[in-house]
Amino acid sequence: MEAPPNRGFLAHAHTFLVCFGGLYALFLVPLATPVFQRNVVYLHNVRWPINANFNLPEKYGLPPFKTVNFNMTTSDDVRLGAWLVLSDQFYQSHTASAVPTVPFTDAEVQQALTAHPTVLFFHGNAGNRAFGFRVASYSALSSRGANVLVIDYRGFGDSEGYPSKEGLGKDARAAWDWLSQRGVEPQNVLIMGHSLGTAVSSMLAAELSSEQITPRGLVLAAPFTSMFELVETYSFGGVVPVLGPMRTFPWVMRFIKRFIQHPFDTASIITTVKSPILLVHAKDDSEIIPTHSSNLFSALLEPHLPPFPFTPKELLDPSFTQSRWSEIQDVSQRRKAATEQLVKNAEVEGLGQLREFEREGAGKVVHLETIRGGHNDVVNLEGVIDLLEKETSFGRLSV
Ligand SMILES: *[C@@H]1O[C@H](CO)[C@@H](O)[C@H](O)[C@H]1NC(C)=O
Repeated sequence: MEAPPNRGFLAHAHTFLVCFGGLYALFLVPLATPVFQRNVVYLHNVRWPINANFNLPEKYGLPPFKTVNFNMTTSDDVRLGAWLVLSDQFYQSHTASAVPTVPFTDAEVQQALTAHPTVLFFHGNAGNRAFGFRVASYSALSSRGANVLVIDYRGFGDSEGYPSKEGLGKDARAAWDWLSQRGVEPQNVLIMGHSLGTAVSSMLAAELSSEQITPRGLVLAAPFTSMFELVETYSFGGVVPVLGPMRTFPWVMRFIKRFIQHPFDTASIITTVKSPILLVHAKDDSEIIPTHSSNLFSALLEPHLPPFPFTPKELLDPSFTQSRWSEIQDVSQRRKAATEQLVKNAEVEGLGQLREFEREGAGKVVHLETIRGGHNDVVNLEGVIDLLEKETSFGRLSV
């Protein structure tokens, strides 16, 4: 008898699947251990640029003496490395020759902090504050007149310690307090985060709101709703869906989520933030898909809509009646009408899709989905910087 012609192929495919499945399991299991999970979430040991010399910001493209390298200490005594990139207006007006030849004095730096607003910038995971695309953001922001303060979280760059959700929260607060101690008014600080930094920014903004402190605004570039939702959609480097394959097995997903040690639940705290909020996300972001921003926008809009009083369980109940069904249709229609009345939409030719609504006593919520920019360069688009300037006047001192 002849063997089926493709038997060899099937046997190989089978071996391949078993091996691949085995390797995948070998990757998933250690993910539950604190050290491995920390390294995967924060990627703080991806030390890029390698052996960065933070004393020499010029090496990474910043102009001579425009950036002050310094240390700050958190409330739990962790030393963090930080850069203060001075406002370009300040830099130009305080430079007599073509380029400065000596560093600015402490008094001059203080003057820059008093005379110009500051963008408090929280970067994403992996690498440190000298990473090229991040430096491009400081340049873009400072060229519009703002100082830019950026820290490396604990465990990143030249900062001490190791990262955790609580730790990063303390780091953000230390940076905020550093500014307040130098007399910088909350209204002159724009909090801005990218990727993982959006979760950190939101925690800080929510904490400040609970103390009735209102910063100029909160900008979230390429944010995610929560770590629970992110693990389902996250794609490493935009290529390798880390847990994507497990989505077909909801019980595996539920099991995995029990092990998440760094929840970062922006969606549940964002509505407490009492300053204007800008969400910026590129359509072609393959690392964190743009749906995360739309969902944050929806979360912010939700309290302004007629409540949807049905739980998913109720909807699936077989004893569901016709009259309940009409109620659902009715409430859905009222929600749709309220959304249309509140939310203004605009297509910005060549840039993307803009949506916004006004929250009484808390300022605007603006959502821009850009056509391009990917995960890392979305804040470096000139059009995005323009929108930020228009919505928050971040380069100008508020009176
Ligand atoms: C920050 O602190 C570390 C450790 O004490 C020190 O080596 C480094 O020179 C400090 N950096 C600055 C800019 O003072």
